[in-house]
Amino acid sequence: MKKKAMLHGMKCIELSETTSTQTYLKNRIDSLQDTPWIAVSASQQTGGYGRRKTGWVAPPGKGLLLSVLSPFPPSPQTALVASLSLATTLHSLGFTPTIKWPNDILLRGKKVAGLLVEGCSNRSLVGIGVNVLHTEKDLQPVDQPATSLLAEGKTVSILDVRTPLLSQLEEDLTLLESQGFSHFHETYMELLGLSAGDSFQLRYSGEIKTALFHTLTPEGYLIVDIDGERKRIA
Ligand code: BTN
Repeated sequence: MKKKAMLHGMKCIELSETTSTQTYLKNRIDSLQDTPWIAVSASQQTGGYGRRKTGWVAPPGKGLLLSVLSPFPPSPQTALVASLSLATTLHSLGFTPTIKWPNDILLRGKKVAGLLVEGCSNRSLVGIGVNVLHTEKDLQPVDQPATSLLAEGKTVSILDVRTPLLSQLEEDLTLLESQGFSHFHETYMELLGLSAGDSFQLRYSGEIKTALFHTLTPEGYLIVDIDGERKRIA
């Protein structure tokens, strides 16, 4: 089943099932040249994937599974800003999200949502998975501490998250394009919650490392010390 609608300037497609909402848009990119913004969501994915090409666990109808194709080229900052859009949306629904570098969204230290950004015909394709209605049992197969909006004690629907998120994403990615990351720097730093000298865990060159936080540049690059060496990470 496929439903179509418009939200502001964004064409929205709702699918009952697809392999991956990312793949759905990638496979149709040639016919989307005249569509600046398009969002695809699905109730179920049979081959949903995350940043490290791992699967994305979402029992049918329980998660927000969303891909948004923007008119703008991808940059390392696209994912940072998209994570802020999601954090803003969750905050407006009564949650207190934080960000784990670069773009995992946590509630009480547990992952509630993940994002990935891919380039597609020089446009950014933002993939977002949010655990909305997952029960504790649904979350058991996840390979890291995870939660859902339901498990945090609030019943919100997938639509309650999707509708404001799409508007927020369109607004924020448009601002990123016109004003750059510096516009978002302060808010991102608040949600990251790190101060100079704090140590934290980070995936670097495929390995989990302990890093000492130094700063986040106005352009959105993380400056850290890993194994005693200063690194600039996008
Ligand atoms: C991560 O934390 O690694 C990112 C997870 C992103 C999952 C979403 S679900 C909707 C979209 N389609 C996919 O196949 N992946 C993203």
